[in-house]
Amino acid sequence: MSHPLLIKNGRVLDPASGTDTLRDIAALDGVLVSPNALRGLSGVEEFDATGLVVCPGLIDLHVHLREPGRPDKETIETGSRAAAAGGFTTILAMPNTIPVTDSASTVAWIRQRAQEKACVHVLVCGCLSQGQKGEVLAPFASLKKAGVVALSDDGRCIQSAELMRRAFEHAHMVGLPILDHCQDESLTADGVMNEGYWSTVLGLHGWPAIAEEIMISRNAMLADLTRHRVHCQHVTTAGGARILREARSRGVPISGEICPHHIALTDAGLEGYDTNFKMNPPLRTQADADALVEAFREGVIDILASDHAPHCDFEKEVEFQEAPFGILGLETEAGLFLEHLHHRHGIPLMDIVRALTMNPAKLLQIPKGTLAEGAEADITVLDTETPWTVDKHQSASKSRNTPFHGQTLRGRAVATFVSGRKVWDLAGFYGE
Ligand code: DOR
Ligand code: ZN
Repeated sequence: MSHPLLIKNGRVLDPASGTDTLRDIAALDGVLVSPNALRGLSGVEEFDATGLVVCPGLIDLHVHLREPGRPDKETIETGSRAAAAGGFTTILAMPNTIPVTDSASTVAWIRQRAQEKACVHVLVCGCLSQGQKGEVLAPFASLKKAGVVALSDDGRCIQSAELMRRAFEHAHMVGLPILDHCQDESLTADGVMNEGYWSTVLGLHGWPAIAEEIMISRNAMLADLTRHRVHCQHVTTAGGARILREARSRGVPISGEICPHHIALTDAGLEGYDTNFKMNPPLRTQADADALVEAFREGVIDILASDHAPHCDFEKEVEFQEAPFGILGLETEAGLFLEHLHHRHGIPLMDIVRALTMNPAKLLQIPKGTLAEGAEADITVLDTETPWTVDKHQSASKSRNTPFHGQTLRGRAVATFVSGRKVWDLAGFYGE
């Protein structure tokens, strides 16, 4: 194996050690080593990171890969390429595939496929309930044995507090974190966008903030009761952030994530009925977006994720009510967070990198998100300053459903190394 790698002269940001220094980092046999260990070796691959930020490989714990079931939207191969092109070295595949990931055999199939086709690490999330129907719990122990690192019914939300309580208790026994898509379905019925001024103006059914907040509250109470860790996916409302702040201040084991679109866009963006602005949960108000940024600044929300949700053009090019929820995320994620958290709101790079590396690694209990010697050499190089323009036609994803086409952002990933090998940089993909 060998393959010595030297990334030179970068600003190395390692949240796990709290260090921010100009230095070289090195890898050998896919593992991080001291640059001294490469002395005298021939065939060292060098990457000049002058003026660039070098950080642990980014981790996205909220990705829809669509395989098995809908390879016309995305495959494990194309989704992992989109991840690499976005700077991600590890992604967590959500279980709302066809079939859903509620059995050991489906987990095995995804892991095998990822082994053969993926250019980044693909971790698997199992279902909370059988068939994601919210009626009977999935077999957590056998899912864990098959290799899942978390449980979620993402896309759906278990409505029964009783069943969710059992889910917390069983998940605690097997030691798997719960990731919850927080949605009280009785309050969202036909909702397709945020309930408020714009839903009234546009004549579309509303999906109210309180439908999310009720479930975040429930989750906080169940986490408190069972002392089991729950992570609230795609938090979108000021009220949701307030509930998390209160619960975390009491030591309740609960966390939340922000997706880029919920701080970069608002429900006013739906004025043209463009279905690329339709996702679940929906875009909210500017006040909500501002509250999310402040919650992130405070550390109340300390994980960032994409909710990468590819859909085909033929599915999105229909009336607003009929279109599926979801947008692409992986390739614009780093740029949007750098633009909207760092450049516009002055949030330190270290906090952003921590929320994309160490914090998701801790939640998933995986030995990643660090540049410590001896760790696997998953490394991302970021250019945090240079403006670039999003072009959906250049996407490595199979789908094109992004509302960010044509937008200029400051900052993006420029190179991605997985297990010590460069898999992508601005010139393209490697190792194929
Ligand atoms: O917008 C969304 N799309 N939200 C979800 O919860 C599911 C996802 C999907 O699978 O398309
Ligand atoms: Zn979701």
